[in-house]
Amino acid sequence: MIGDKKVIFSGMQPSGFMTLGNYLGALNNWKKLQYDYNCLYCIVDMHAITVRQDPAKFRKAGRDILMQYIASGLDPEKNIIYYQSHVPQHAELSWILNCFTYMGELSRMTQFKEKSQKHSDNINAGLFDYPVLMAADILLYQTDLVPVGEDQRQHLELTRDIAERFNSLYGDVFTIPEGYIGKVGARIMALQDPTKKMSKSDENKNNTIALMDDPKVIMNKFKKAITDSENEVHYDPENKPGVSNLLGIYSAVTGKTIEECEKEFANCGYGNFKTSVGEAVVANLEPIQKKFADLQNNKDYIESIIKKNTERASAIATKTLSKVRKKVGFVEKIR
Ligand code: TYM
Repeated sequence: MIGDKKVIFSGMQPSGFMTLGNYLGALNNWKKLQYDYNCLYCIVDMHAITVRQDPAKFRKAGRDILMQYIASGLDPEKNIIYYQSHVPQHAELSWILNCFTYMGELSRMTQFKEKSQKHSDNINAGLFDYPVLMAADILLYQTDLVPVGEDQRQHLELTRDIAERFNSLYGDVFTIPEGYIGKVGARIMALQDPTKKMSKSDENKNNTIALMDDPKVIMNKFKKAITDSENEVHYDPENKPGVSNLLGIYSAVTGKTIEECEKEFANCGYGNFKTSVGEAVVANLEPIQKKFADLQNNKDYIESIIKKNTERASAIATKTLSKVRKKVGFVEKIR
């Protein structure tokens, strides 16, 4: 708890541009939850350097993503929006938790296996250790709830295991967090290959919708999206992955249930269906794009937010960390 409310923590890597998958799987839920919880929404830049980044592009992506958080509707006065690398307590707790995490646990992580295949020339220790830093992010703030997409479920389970292990040795130090994975939008798939998830790092840009894509580009990508040889708009992810993905996107952006969407598009043909999905996404993203453009001209405001929120995050993190330091037996710092 912080004050009278439970705590939410979540984060996103500033590696490239934010996708519709990130938006619908995570940010859209963050927005809904922001007034009922005390929320920390972090930009996890230290996680992003587990794969090589071009420094100039990385810095720009880091700046843009903070403005995209705000443009998407996160209130920076209410929520603590900040950069992971600005609060060194994340790294410090991560080191301590490393000593409570087993190699076997980390080598079972699906994301590690996938990323080390994809970046076989750079299988660094950070990539292996990525989930421990994520556990530190979450546990540092005594988090109750972690809203994420489906792909983060395994990392969350590991976070809970590490916290329980630590607590069983030292007493109740960490809150055990729960995951919050939305019913719709939790796994948005690639438009040209709906059997794999939509991902920032996809080389085929027709697979992904970027939050900042031009409306014409968005419409084109939806028109080209892969469906199937039938002509029936029906939700069946196993046999009709393309159509089901588009239905999931439409449901997430309009707030209608899948059944309502199926009815709306009964007998409508795939061409019209894809156009309607594209239009609904454009209508959702246009106000975000406009607000983002306004924020880009407001550097002082953005800087004041960064400064204030870093201090707020740091104050909470310091409390947890000093408890942890005491528990493991470090000699107290002389101030
Ligand atoms: P990242 O940056 O890969 O993704 C950010 C969020 O977007 C979700 N997501 C998706 N949801 C639905 N469909 C998709 N195709 C899709 N692609 C991505 C992710 O599930 C995530 O919620 N490890 C995290 C970042 C992180 C974090 C944390 C999250 C670091 N520390 C602590 C929560 C709590 C990640 O890689 O996110």
